[in-house]
Parts: sequence; structure tokens; C-alpha cells
Amino acid sequence: MSKRITTDISAAARLLTEGRLVAFPTETVYGLGADALNPSAVRRVYEAKSRPFGHPLIIHVGNMHLLDELAQDIPDNARALVRHFWPGPLTLVLKASDNVPRIVTGGQDTVAIRFPAHPMAIALLKEFGGGVVGPSANKFGHLSPTKAADVDSDFGPEVDLILNGASCPVGIESTIIGFDGEFPIMLRPGMITKRAISAEISKEFFEAGAEPPRVPGSLSAHYAPTTRLVVLHADDIRRYLKENSELHDVALLTITPLFKTHPNNKMIVASTDPDNYAKNLYESLRELDRVGAKIIIVESVPLTDAWDGIRDRLERAAGSF
Ligand code: TXA
Ligand code: MG
Repeated sequence: MSKRITTDISAAARLLTEGRLVAFPTETVYGLGADALNPSAVRRVYEAKSRPFGHPLIIHVGNMHLLDELAQDIPDNARALVRHFWPGPLTLVLKASDNVPRIVTGGQDTVAIRFPAHPMAIALLKEFGGGVVGPSANKFGHLSPTKAADVDSDFGPEVDLILNGASCPVGIESTIIGFDGEFPIMLRPGMITKRAISAEISKEFFEAGAEPPRVPGSLSAHYAPTTRLVVLHADDIRRYLKENSELHDVALLTITPLFKTHPNNKMIVASTDPDNYAKNLYESLRELDRVGAKIIIVESVPLTDAWDGIRDRLERAAGSF
């Protein structure tokens, strides 16, 4: 294992203070951390990821009081969500305060903030004391990392240290909510569902309007393996495999265990429980990407609220081909 993979939280906090880059585990995916108030450190995050500057970053906090230092005019409903879901996999997009460097927000007047629930992330944020930008710790457009080794394989010496916090328990990126006044807007679905959010606040969801918010996760080439990926209904997979029984360079991610296929084809049968499915999704896609198949076929997942975040990531992974 590479020497920069460690559990030394104090060393990580010190590097952040010096303006260096530190990858850290959260409950969703690993983040690529830098001091949010240090514009040249934040610039290095964009450069390390090869991420265009117009795509803003989330600031992670380990202390509730930072919310009012980084944001202003905070809707009551945002505060209600903070009370209920923080620390946790929920990011809020709020009006930025003047303390937030524009390089963090991609020049917009809003800022995305979240208080992660992972104990190692919280320990790091508390020891560092300030806000830490944390895009997923992968090159722009790649699959998000859910293990320290995934981060290690994407980055060279520009990342000084990777905190090793084992596998991320949620497995896909946080739910992102913006506001129009008191009305919530779903900017990126995740494992905290619309229904769970609606239960905590007084207003209905606004649908994102014709002017799409700048969420780079909404570009088609996102969350994508390098092998071509399609999402198909179980019946269509069954028919395809029957009509092409000689095919031996197919990789499959299913939730139905009943497919007969050539023994050379790699098949992962995933959980029918959305929490378990999400937890293993990116690792499964990485594994299927590595077998050198011509195509990855993913069985479509249920249309219910609990699967919204997963469906979104699968559609984006497929949409880029
Ligand atoms: O779970 C997560 O959210 C992970 C972990 C590491 O915390 N982070 C993550 O960051 O997924 P990233 O940079 O890969 O995705 C952040 C998303 C992007 O789609 C970005 O455009 C959006 O948040 N975002 C950030 N600031 C925004 C803003 N002011 N308005 C709208 N979207 C914003
Ligand atoms: Mg990302």
C-alpha cells in the first residue's frame, strides 16, 4: 500500500493548514480536501481533478456555527433540514457569504455546504477547524472513489495524503438541495430521498426549471466506467442473452439472479435493498470495468423514490456512450 495512505488525522489537518491536498473518507464517497478559504489551495483541487473552473465545489464543515459564516439569508426550511439530517449525506445550496472565495462557487452567488457523518471526516474537520472543499476524489468524469485505494489509483503526487477510512457506507454522492425562497429544489438525488425531505418541511418540491443549475454531475459523461454501459429491463437482458448465447465478453450487474449466460461472462448479482445496492455500486462497476468486456449490461432498478439516486447515477453512466 502506498505510503501516503494513512490514518494520521493530525498530519492531514496540518497539510490542509499548509494549503496542501488531502483525500478523506466521508459516508458517501471519498473527497479531495483543501482549505476552502485558501484560493490557491482550492485552485489546486480543480487542477488535480482536471475539473473546469465553472463547476463549483461543496464546502464540508464539522461545526454547525460555520453554516452562518459561509452562508447568509438561510431559509427556515434549510435550517429544518440541517437540524434533521446533519451530520449526514445532504448538501444544501445557499446564498454565499462574503467570506467564501469565488473560486469555490464557480463565480456564482450560492455556495454548497455539507456536514458529513463519517467519524474520520468529522475528526479531520474539527481538528482543522475551518471549511474544507471536497469534490469526489476522482478525475473529472470518472467513477467516484469508495476506498482509499481508488483515490490512490487516480492521483499522483499532487495529493499529499489519503486518510484511510475503509469503504464508504452510503456509497453514492450526497443529495443536493437548493431553494427558491422556502421551496426546496432537487439538484442531485441521493440516498436521502424527496419523501424523507418532504416529511421535515412545509413546502412542496419545485422542479428545477428550464435554466439548469450548474451541477457538473448533470453532464452526461459523469460517474462513468470506460467500458460501454447500457441499462436494460430484466426481460430484455434475458432475450438478449438467449439470442446471443455465444457471447463471452459481456459483464452484467443485475438484481435478478436468474440469468443464464456464457460462463466466461462476469456477472455480479447485487442486492435488492437500495442501501446495500448503493454501498456497492461503484466498486461493482469498477470490478466489471476491469474484466475487459465489450459491454456492461446493468439491470434497471425499481422506479421508486428510494432508488432515485441510484437510477440517476446509472443513467449518467449509460448516457455518456
Ligand atoms: O457526497 C458528496 O457530495 C461528495 C463527498 C465527497 O462529500 N462530494 C461530491 O462533490 O460529490 P462533487 O464536487 O463531486 O459534486 C458536487 C456537486 C457538483 O455537481 C457541483 O456542481 C454541485 O455540487 N454544486 C456545488 N456548488 C454548487 C452551487 N453553488 N450551486 C449548484 N450546484 C453546486
Ligand atoms: Mg464528483
